Amino acid sequence: MSVLIKGGRIITASDDYVGDVYAEGETISLVGESLDVQAEKVIDASGKYVLPGAIDPHTHIEMFFGGTTTCDDFTSGTVAAAFGGTTSLVDFCMQAPGTPFPEALDNYFEKIERCKPVIDVGFHIGVTDIEGGGGLEALAKLPDEGVTSYKLFMAYKGAVMVDDETLFKTMEVARETGGLVMVHAENGDAIDVIVKKAVAEGKTDPIWHARTRPMETEAEATNRAIQLARVAGCPLYVVHVSCQPAVEPIALAREKGWDVWGETCTQYFFVDQTFLERPDFEGAKYVYTPPPRAKANQDVLWNAVRTDILSAISTDHCAFLWDGQKTLGRDDFSKIPNGGPGLENRLHMIHHFGVGEGRITLNRMVELLSTNPAKLFGLYPRKGTIAPGSDADLVIFDPARKKTITAADQHSKTDYNLYEGTEVTGDVETVLIRGTVVVDDGELKVEPGFGEFVARAKFGQELRPAVARA
Ligand code: URP
Ligand code: ZN
Ligand code: ZN
Repeated sequence: MSVLIKGGRIITASDDYVGDVYAEGETISLVGESLDVQAEKVIDASGKYVLPGAIDPHTHIEMFFGGTTTCDDFTSGTVAAAFGGTTSLVDFCMQAPGTPFPEALDNYFEKIERCKPVIDVGFHIGVTDIEGGGGLEALAKLPDEGVTSYKLFMAYKGAVMVDDETLFKTMEVARETGGLVMVHAENGDAIDVIVKKAVAEGKTDPIWHARTRPMETEAEATNRAIQLARVAGCPLYVVHVSCQPAVEPIALAREKGWDVWGETCTQYFFVDQTFLERPDFEGAKYVYTPPPRAKANQDVLWNAVRTDILSAISTDHCAFLWDGQKTLGRDDFSKIPNGGPGLENRLHMIHHFGVGEGRITLNRMVELLSTNPAKLFGLYPRKGTIAPGSDADLVIFDPARKKTITAADQHSKTDYNLYEGTEVTGDVETVLIRGTVVVDDGELKVEPGFGEFVARAKFGQELRPAVARA
């Protein structure tokens, strides 16, 4: 099958021009002005943007967490992603303590077999227990299987939190194997003390989720991870950076030229701590970690993504139902499962409030949502750009179409939306993945199973189609 996308405004991290994109099979073969080619399918994109498919490097699909399991499976989660212009995601394959790493991976392959994805999917390994996983050798083998990033939680004591020994040993393995270490940076020991004290004092409302996780605990762990990565000599990626004190050590490390990157997530630009005070337990919808912060941090984050202190915007999509899952913590905020939905609306929100309101350029939006995640997580240049040889993962985006974001018409299984009622200008019209139309004008055009597992390249290496499909 060949597709010609005609007359769109083609926007990559570095280019912005009106032209055509021609794909044969799964791959882009020509890009240019007024291409003189015949195609089996022609899409008129005049007046629209043609963007590389967005890539979400941070999701938690069908993950057991907080005493329950996130409500999206790999079908519903990836359908939501596709409608939001996301064409690849990298999910956390969590190792339950005591589980060998290959078995942990098999569990996730079983999940994508049972609930098949419609977009392309990769895995990070969520390390909780090196010994139980089969030791350092087993950890070292994973990048050869296309699982090229190690995620560790410095928080959630008594659940997935690791100690510094585990973190540091993983960092040493990463240096040798070409893995990228990702950290959830919060001081879980200190937070545990503060949370227990608050609960004992009868402070049980959702707002206490934020009040018991001071920004300094995020800053301390961020700095600790940076220093340890420096000692170990591995690259480091700090996930869901939420506030100024945590931005600062990343800014300093990057200024020094260290191999440190950070992301923030859509919700930290729009949801502040006061949302947790909403009556009738509505505040529980915004219980995710790190928590929503004081509003002043939002400008800090916009500035950080604009200036490349932070290099990506993910969703941290970790969807629970409000009714039945979030309500597990009605009497005790510490029992509210931590996480919020977001896969479907990242592009809408960042386009409208980031580009539309002049905070970042279109090129920078593409870089934050697609190109940088592709480069950092071993998907580039197969994904993350529009160029001959790249997968034809493309979003035709109508910058003038208006949309009101609401849970009523979303594709995630959750029963609420963090941005409920928000009116945005700019909507996804058509999404192609590997040259096939996946979404068109509000309709899903492929069956579950269209999405493929992607074995990613090691850190700093390129993923070429020929290599990936050999
Ligand atoms: O609250 C959150 N963010 N839940 C998902 C797990 C994590 O910390 O990323
Ligand atoms: Zn986290
Ligand atoms: Zn997360």
